[in-house]
Amino acid sequence: MLDHVAIAVPDLEAALQKLTPFLAGQAHFEEVPDQGVRVALVPLGNCHLELLSPLSEDSPVGKFLARKGPGLHHVAFHVEDVASELVAFAERGYELIDKTPRRGAGGKTIGFLHPRSTGGVLVELCSHNP
Ligand code: CO
Repeated sequence: MLDHVAIAVPDLEAALQKLTPFLAGQAHFEEVPDQGVRVALVPLGNCHLELLSPLSEDSPVGKFLARKGPGLHHVAFHVEDVASELVAFAERGYELIDKTPRRGAGGKTIGFLHPRSTGGVLVELCSHNP
């Protein structure tokens, strides 16, 4: 099940303004210092849009923007248990970015699969903690 689509942008507020015609809900802002990002989460029906802007140029999203410019960063799918799914994907031959889960925006548990294994798109597995 799709959980969210994430777009990397240099400026969250400017990007939100451009996307306003498509958005129904209020944005929730959060910083995830671990990952060097500031995040805006906007509900979109059963899933949400995640806008990412870098806290510094040498963060992963900062490097992404320098290399590719603003655009689609990752697609996230909801799973029940990220840790066991990461193991299962590795056993099926997928290349992992995270061998163990970490904490993402919105208090979620997340883990990334390498785009080399997934047709060119960075894929996040995520679960919502109670
Ligand atoms: Co995400």
